[in-house]
Amino acid sequence: MNVIGISGTPRLGGNSEILLRYALKPFEDKEWNIKIFLLSELTIKPCRACDNCRKNAICVIDDDMNSIYNAFKWCDAIIVSSPVYYRNISSQLLAVLDRHYAVDIERPLEGKVGGAIAIGRGTGRGQAITINAIYNWMLSRGIICVPGELNGVTAVADKPGDILTQIKRLKQSEILGRNVLSIAQKLFQ
Ligand SMILES: Cc1cc2nc3c(=O)[nH]c(=O)nc-3n(C[C@H](O)[C@H](O)[C@H](O)COP(=O)(O)O)c2cc1C
Repeated sequence: MNVIGISGTPRLGGNSEILLRYALKPFEDKEWNIKIFLLSELTIKPCRACDNCRKNAICVIDDDMNSIYNAFKWCDAIIVSSPVYYRNISSQLLAVLDRHYAVDIERPLEGKVGGAIAIGRGTGRGQAITINAIYNWMLSRGIICVPGELNGVTAVADKPGDILTQIKRLKQSEILGRNVLSIAQKLFQ
C-alpha cells in the first residue's frame, strides 16, 4: 500500500514538513511505501490554463510536477500540509493543486483517502480557512476526507522547528495519520 505526503512550505524543515512527517509515522509502522514531496525542494510552476491537456491529456509544462502526477496514480492515501499565507494555502501548494487540472479527466485520486494539516503563526489567523481549502480541493477530486482528533490538524507556530515543542500537535498529527491509515485499510485491504 502506498501513501504520499505533500509539504507546502517553501522552507526546508518548516513546521508543515515536521507535522507531515509525524502524520506519516503510522504508515511507516505498517510498512507502507511512502513518498514525501517537499515543495521547498521542487520547482512547480503555476497552471497556464492553456488547455493543451484537454487535447493531449498531458501538461505542457515539464517540471517536478511530473513525479507528483505519477504519485497521484500510485498512492492509496494522501496527506497534505501547508503554512498559512495571508489566510490561505501557500502559493507553492496552490500551484500543485491547480496543476491537477491536466489529469482531471483521469481522476487519479478518486476514492482514495486524505487528510490535511495547516500551520500559522497567529491563533485563529487563517488555519481554518487553510485546512478547508485543502479538504475542499480533496473533495473536488473525489478524495475521501478523514478527520484527525478534530477536523484535520491546525497549529500555531512560527520559526522553522517551533512546532517540535508542542507535543499535543505532534500527537494530533500522528492521530490524523492513524485515522487516514485505518480508513484506507478498511477500504483497500
Ligand atoms: C507570506 C506569508 C504570509 C503569512 N500569512 C500568515 C497568516 O495569514 N496567518 C498566520 O497565522 N501566519 C501567517 N504567516 C506565518 C506562517 O504561516 C508561519 O510562520 C508558519 O509557521 C510557516 O510554516 P512553515 O514553518 O511550515 O513554513 C505568513 C508567513 C508568510 C511568509
